[in-house]
Amino acid sequence: MKKVIAIIGLTAAIAANSQAAAVTVTLACGAVGQELELCKAGADRWAKKTGNTVKIFESPNLTNDRLGLYQQQLAAKSSDIDVYQLDVVWPGLLSQHFVDLKTKVPAAEVNAHFKGIVAANTVNGKLVALPWFTDAGLLYYRTDLLTKYGYKTAPKTWAELATMAKKIQTGEQKANKSFAGYVWQGKNYEGLTCDALEWVVSFGGGAIVDDKGAITINNAKAAAALDAAASWVKNISPAGVTTYGEEEARGIFQSGNAAFMRNWPYAWALGQGEDSKVKGKIGVAPLPSGGAGNAATLGGWQLGVSTYSKNQAAAIAMVRYLAGPEEQKIRAIQGAYNPTIQALYKDPAVLKANPFFGSLLNVFTSAVARPSGPTKGKYNQVSQAFSSAVSDVLNGKSKGAAAVAKLSTDLARIKGRGW
Ligand code: GLC
Repeated sequence: MKKVIAIIGLTAAIAANSQAAAVTVTLACGAVGQELELCKAGADRWAKKTGNTVKIFESPNLTNDRLGLYQQQLAAKSSDIDVYQLDVVWPGLLSQHFVDLKTKVPAAEVNAHFKGIVAANTVNGKLVALPWFTDAGLLYYRTDLLTKYGYKTAPKTWAELATMAKKIQTGEQKANKSFAGYVWQGKNYEGLTCDALEWVVSFGGGAIVDDKGAITINNAKAAAALDAAASWVKNISPAGVTTYGEEEARGIFQSGNAAFMRNWPYAWALGQGEDSKVKGKIGVAPLPSGGAGNAATLGGWQLGVSTYSKNQAAAIAMVRYLAGPEEQKIRAIQGAYNPTIQALYKDPAVLKANPFFGSLLNVFTSAVARPSGPTKGKYNQVSQAFSSAVSDVLNGKSKGAAAVAKLSTDLARIKGRGW
């Protein structure tokens, strides 16, 4: 469903004094957690500063649904949307539809962002979008319950997590039947690709496809990682976990019904909100290791200007403002959206609102990329094949070893058509 909300700036007043006529820019953004609200507020600030008008094109929650919708608009060369919020795994898929910002944005401004994220947005030398916020998978836990059950620290390994989650779940279920040990993203979609990549990398099973494009997923460690995750379902995680996205997991954790949760940083700000049942009782740690160290999947969102936009100059100006330090700081403080501008990790107000931005900085700087770089235009097919294979293991339709063997054959077929 498409909702368009207009944010009117001081159009009349400023237009009267300005050479450039005010225009209306449409921005597609939203919608998980506070994303839409903070996007609207930022657009509103830019509209007020410049006298332009911004319309918000509200996007669906799931990244897969957003991609489908955006691909339709872009394939039709529609000028309806000027600026798109792009997932970090999309530049390779969508680069041809976006303005090269390298020639439009001063190099110093681009270089203020983390190098790796700028690289993820660069396709054949073209800067497809400006980084807006970054993401990495985190382990959330209930500090009060860890203490209650005699634990001093968050689990360091998946095996420890399973033991702790089971003990807490058994104890809590005496009074609360719906209490869960561990909630995460088990639905078959891009979010499952993110979670499962973390398991596989932490077991030493590689990142599905390596940097050179070779398929590496068919190995015993990857298989063991998937089998371990399958053992959580209906044990420390509810049967329904295989239908959860980010928001379902957050809903359960935030209402006090889970001991552990895997989620992105945005869940912190909401978990510490006034209406949260677990405010003041949340700890954040790196995800556990499967023997090869902990791994967090690199996520995050960028802002790109459509080549079909009829208002490119204004659209670029808006993207520069929204991706700039002032807005990134507000979003970090209000919504725990991780800045992509390095300097903001030293900002006292940002660190006060999100202490883990400082204590877990290495988690953010060493996050593992999904193989969107090497698989380019085929990334979406690769990711869907991977999440479907994982989903089969979680649902008991396949064992890890058989699933990674079949997946490897499926990926070879996709690669055969070129990536
Ligand atoms: C988050 C990440 C994004 C990822 C998505 C999966 O929004 O930032 O990169 O694709 O989750 O659900």
